[in-house]
Amino acid sequence: MRLKDRRAIVTGAASGIGRASAQLFAEQGARVLAVDRPGTDLDGTKGNRESIVTHPADITAKGAPQAIVAAAVKAFGGLDILFNNAGVSGRAFVEEMTEEEWDRVNGVNVRAQFLLAREAIPHLKSSPAPRIINTASVMAEATDFGLAAYCASKAGVAGLTRTLALELGKFGITANYIEPGAIQTGMTAKNFADPTIAGVWAKKSPLRRLGQPIDIARGALFLASDDGGFVTGHGLRVDGGLMLRC
Ligand SMILES: NC(=O)c1ccc[n+]([C@@H]2O[C@H](COP(=O)([O-])OP(=O)(O)OC[C@H]3O[C@@H](n4cnc5c(N)ncnc54)[C@H](O)[C@@H]3O)[C@@H](O)[C@H]2O)c1
Repeated sequence: MRLKDRRAIVTGAASGIGRASAQLFAEQGARVLAVDRPGTDLDGTKGNRESIVTHPADITAKGAPQAIVAAAVKAFGGLDILFNNAGVSGRAFVEEMTEEEWDRVNGVNVRAQFLLAREAIPHLKSSPAPRIINTASVMAEATDFGLAAYCASKAGVAGLTRTLALELGKFGITANYIEPGAIQTGMTAKNFADPTIAGVWAKKSPLRRLGQPIDIARGALFLASDDGGFVTGHGLRVDGGLMLRC
């Protein structure tokens, strides 16, 4: 029970890393507000767990960050952990990328993280073990063709998180980001359904496999729990060693 009585928000909780994290946090004793877009399978995340409360919302919608934090505080009486995990990807060469595409990716991946953190901070200040965890990506450090918006957003997450750590340390709030490698989730399902592509990415890791959502959830649990209490401003690669040869 590494998160006994902790109160958490997890975004992107209907699928992949967010679902695994919401369930692992709940298993470890936390109460979790599981947030994802309306129409997504939040019920599948909840199952029969009373400690998971579902909250369908588009985190980029006006007023959504305020409503999400208010819902957690109302349901649980406070907030200890904000796990900003929801994210989107997309591929377009810079020459052909529309402003809408740039804004869509950056709106979810970094702007909404900033707004949710801003709303959460006043409540985190009164938590005994306050944590902000933001999902970035190894693409915060690397790149690939067509990933300008995604890479910029994830490098933005790193910069945002380091600054949060600096500004909030005096309140005992830690802020860290996770850099997943190649993980089998909804985001990568189409690519990794092709065994050749999945095989290439698996072999890039010294561990010779793709990551699973639970691999990242365990990293998030470390940062959320007392074990991570003196870690702040850190980017935790959970990539099976993918980046060693980059
Ligand atoms: N899968 C990978 O290989 C990989 C690698 C590096 C980083 N990441 C990051 O991990 C995070 C989780 O992604 P995943 O891989 O589990 O993918 P996923 O698609 O399985 O889950 C992402 C979830 O975020 C939700 N979401 C997207 N936009 C939203 C919005 N506007 N409001 C509310 N919810 C929204 C989606 O509905 C989805 O359920 C993302 O930030 C992603 O960039 C993933």
